[in-house]
Amino acid sequence: MGYSPDPAARGRAAWTILLLLLSTSIPTLAAAAETHPWLNTSYTPEHRLHSFLSALTFEEKLAMVQGNKSAETNACIGYIPPIPHLNMPGICMGDGPEGVGNNLANVTTFPSPILTVSTWDTTLNEAFGDALGAEHKAKGRNVVLAPTINIIRSSLWGRAAESMSEDPYLTSRMAVAVTKSIQDGNNVIACVKHFAAYNQETNRFGLAPEFDAVSAVVDERVLREVYFPAFKAAIQEAGAGSVMCAYNKLNGQHACENSWLLSDVLKEQWGFDGFVVTDWYFAQRSTVRAALAGLDNSQPGGDWMEWYGFPDFFGGLLEDALGNGSVSVSRVEDMVERLWRPVFRVGGVDRPSSGLAGIDSVARTQEHLDLAQTIVEEGAVLLKNEGVLPLGLGEEKVIAVFGADAADQAAVTELHGGFVLDTTMVVQKPLDFIRARAQQDNITVLYSEAYPGTNAFPTIPSSMFGPEGLNVTYWTTTDFSGAPNRTVHADNITSQSYPPDIGAVWPDVFSSRYEGTFHPNASGRYHFSLSGNGGGSLYLGGRLVADMAGSNFGVVVQGVADLESGTAIPIRFDYSMGYSVDPGTYGITVGVNIPAQNPSLYEHAVATAQSADVSIVFVNDAHTEGLDSSLGLRLPGDQDEVISLIAQHSKKTIVVLNTNAAILMPWLDNVDAVIEMFYPGQQVGSATARLLFGDVNFSGKLPITFPAASEESPTASVAQFPGVNLTATYSEGLYVGYKWYDEFDVTPLFAFGHGLSYTGFAIGDLSVYSDLDLRSDSTQVAVTVTASVTNTGPVFGKEVVQLYVRFPEAADEPPKLLRGFEKVALDVNETATVRFDLSQEDLSIWSTEVGGWTVVPGVYGFLVGSSSRDIKRQMNVWLR
Ligand SMILES: *[C@@H]1O[C@H](CO)[C@@H](O)[C@H](O)[C@H]1NC(C)=O
Ligand SMILES: *[C@@H]1O[C@H](CO)[C@@H](O)[C@H](O)[C@H]1NC(C)=O
Ligand SMILES: *[C@@H]1O[C@H](CO)[C@@H](O)[C@H](O)[C@H]1NC(C)=O
Ligand SMILES: *[C@@H]1O[C@H](CO)[C@@H](O)[C@H](O)[C@H]1NC(C)=O
Ligand SMILES: *[C@@H]1O[C@H](CO)[C@@H](O)[C@H](O)[C@H]1NC(C)=O
Ligand SMILES: *[C@@H]1O[C@H](CO)[C@@H](O)[C@H](O)[C@H]1NC(C)=O
Ligand SMILES: *[C@@H]1O[C@H](CO)[C@@H](O)[C@H](O)[C@H]1NC(C)=O
Ligand SMILES: *[C@@H]1O[C@H](CO)[C@@H](O)[C@H](O)[C@H]1NC(C)=O
Ligand SMILES: *[C@@H]1O[C@H](CO)[C@@H](O)[C@H](O)[C@H]1NC(C)=O
Ligand SMILES: *[C@@H]1O[C@H](CO)[C@@H](O)[C@H](O)[C@H]1NC(C)=O
Repeated sequence: MGYSPDPAARGRAAWTILLLLLSTSIPTLAAAAETHPWLNTSYTPEHRLHSFLSALTFEEKLAMVQGNKSAETNACIGYIPPIPHLNMPGICMGDGPEGVGNNLANVTTFPSPILTVSTWDTTLNEAFGDALGAEHKAKGRNVVLAPTINIIRSSLWGRAAESMSEDPYLTSRMAVAVTKSIQDGNNVIACVKHFAAYNQETNRFGLAPEFDAVSAVVDERVLREVYFPAFKAAIQEAGAGSVMCAYNKLNGQHACENSWLLSDVLKEQWGFDGFVVTDWYFAQRSTVRAALAGLDNSQPGGDWMEWYGFPDFFGGLLEDALGNGSVSVSRVEDMVERLWRPVFRVGGVDRPSSGLAGIDSVARTQEHLDLAQTIVEEGAVLLKNEGVLPLGLGEEKVIAVFGADAADQAAVTELHGGFVLDTTMVVQKPLDFIRARAQQDNITVLYSEAYPGTNAFPTIPSSMFGPEGLNVTYWTTTDFSGAPNRTVHADNITSQSYPPDIGAVWPDVFSSRYEGTFHPNASGRYHFSLSGNGGGSLYLGGRLVADMAGSNFGVVVQGVADLESGTAIPIRFDYSMGYSVDPGTYGITVGVNIPAQNPSLYEHAVATAQSADVSIVFVNDAHTEGLDSSLGLRLPGDQDEVISLIAQHSKKTIVVLNTNAAILMPWLDNVDAVIEMFYPGQQVGSATARLLFGDVNFSGKLPITFPAASEESPTASVAQFPGVNLTATYSEGLYVGYKWYDEFDVTPLFAFGHGLSYTGFAIGDLSVYSDLDLRSDSTQVAVTVTASVTNTGPVFGKEVVQLYVRFPEAADEPPKLLRGFEKVALDVNETATVRFDLSQEDLSIWSTEVGGWTVVPGVYGFLVGSSSRDIKRQMNVWLR
């Protein structure tokens, strides 16, 4: 749709690549271009597409719609093989949204998208999308499985950091920026995901043996106004070439076989002409229903999925369905046409590709690393600052830094999802950069770990279970039900601890219970870790100490217990494996950090705090795809207590958060400054030091609301999140994020759009001009809003001016909706004018009665401010 390549530039690029190919592997290409019009860049992409389709046999087409896991590698986690006799390359798909994933090396670990969106800078998001597309291209991919553009409905969502924001308008603008720039000039296709209403990990595809997925129950108006807009915008404004359908059900029907969703809305109403691909492994549930609903491509496939009851639905079964007439030949033709259309459109054929060809290339560049740093500087959000920041104004002689998160365990990326797993990644440790920067001002920097980090601890040594060891009882069910299969002896609890002969049949499902006695060999605070795959609950003396709800992505969950040396405490560990998508990934290892191993962890922290002028405490959580937070909105372990302890002994305290999304801050009143940096990517160190010392000013703003208490959030009931009986009821309706706080007059801890600066801003001179005539069908600009913004403080800074619209009563909308934002850079005393042009669409609501968009006549409020809770100017205008 929105994609209009510059033909001259495309011609030049194609020519360069042609020469490259001539000089290397395919000497017949020039000759082939004459007889193979699909290779001739003089033709339009659509002409090339159809000439190619007419050269394929139907068998060849049929083979393209089903992925083949056995043909996959980390290079391409979704793969459609080349067609050598037509000189056509294959299609290679890969993760993910914050960099090249799937264990590929020499790539850039960018900040998590939630931080990139916190910049509120569309140009910077475009630069990110461009770099992301370029790195995927360098690694041989043609389809980038990004961006993730689902609404962050709850901060408990394990993939919040991988997504963008709680607001559909902000998410739409950023989705367009990232999607468009991934595709433009990189010869790769973006895959916007996950369509639709995929907002939680819990039961996203269910557990064995039923694999009954959660159903999001959402009414149509809410879908149209909250959960769809970013997808619609990415398709219509950025020309997204592919869409991934979600694991979950939507209103009782699997997303990948929901014809209203895929055919009526996506393809017919929005004009999407690319392909719909399944989410991997468990999203597709049928052949005929999915094919008829509008699913175009099935990934990853492979025989071994049959064990779970997931055959190659678009393999032999699709052939059967063609044979018995339940799926038409033309539907399959359509799938293949849709698959290749975006490939031709982005010039994906006109480059040496793909997959293995690029695997060893170095995709990471200095430019991308610099960009990653800029994103942190522009996206980090200064939540609170009471006269402590910036540092280095001569008030401090000694700075103390705390937390493994500042040093060896910097939480720079989520564990899986947007994840980058690059063995060559060099993380800039914040501590190193703070030291170097402090040295310039002759400030001494002390370090104290204070908290042993959120990584896994060493396996509990067998000796701690006493001479009797552990008994393990196995069930062949996942929930300890039925007669136990056997009880055996074990020395410890490690990921290898699956039953010898049950485990011989791979893959398998089972549950097991470890029982014995734990013998503390020192008194003090013990930190326990559960790491691995599956579900696990650790009990000490009957108390639940650590709980992992069930994941297959190698996550770590922690718990603490204060124990005394010489006691004997009953220990129990319940393990459940419902599925394992990767070979050999059974089991959870239970680890421990024994106070005796670091007896002075807290005493050292207190002493360090007391000898410094200011304390900077780095804390983090460790969330991931596959698992929602099992800790509520708390930080893992006893980090909250550690912050309070340090604050109590410090002159001034700064807290730096590296979290997935919003958390609670029980210590907020006792600290002087708080910075939210989410998962900031590998270039975290220099950016952190520069921000702390004021070498660069803060300008990030929150893209989500931080609640003051768990129950004070829009999705606080279990029925809403994560649902009851596999039903998540979106009963908050349109009141997602700040809209709920506004409607119900609840004061958040930190508001959507909030973010402080080292300077100050004034917003004034609001004017609203409208030539909207609802009686005509004008698609012109409906309303223009202008406002002035002045830097009234002492230093250069950037302000994000935000425009919210209050709809007339009759529209029955939340109190205000974001409809514009602009980040403005201003020198001291400088004034700029920002201008927002609102279209009729910006002022439309979904009318269930009409079954379409409509503008409700009445009084509209135009509110301009610095956050959703800091409105500086407003004006009412009567629109009719
Ligand atoms: C590509 O098509 C154009 C237009 O038909 C034609 O002039 C040209 O020779 C073709 N190029 C090749 C390499 O066949
Ligand atoms: C899948 O790929 C493997 C390895 O390339 C191949 O042996 C197998 O025949 C393929 N399966 C199908 C159904 O094409
Ligand atoms: C990363 O790139 C360097 C330089 O080309 C290369 O020597 C190294 O083998 C690459 N590392 C990996 C793991 O591919
Ligand atoms: C046609 O074949 C498909 C695939 O095997 C099967 O699911 C479907 O039930 C069949 N339909 C009829 C009418 O036989
Ligand atoms: C730091 O200390 C050195 C040596 O005492 C001195 O020359 C320099 O001026 C000091 N720098 C600052 C910024 O105070
Ligand atoms: C755990 O038990 C196994 C089996 O006895 C043993 O090989 C391994 O060394 C033990 N690990 C630890 C950390 O004690
Ligand atoms: C235990 O499970 C194995 C594997 O399923 C099975 O062969 C065996 O009969 C079971 N034993 C008992 C006592 O249930
Ligand atoms: C293991 O089971 C045996 C047999 O029931 C029992 O005698 C022993 O005390 C148990 N050991 C532990 C550590 O619970
Ligand atoms: C969930 O299912 C159970 C068992 O079928 C039933 O007792 C319970 O009422 C259901 N809860 C809700 C909220 O539907
Ligand atoms: C900014 O304006 C104030 C008030 O007019 C003035 O005192 C100050 O010098 C100005 N600062 C700069 C950098 O121009």
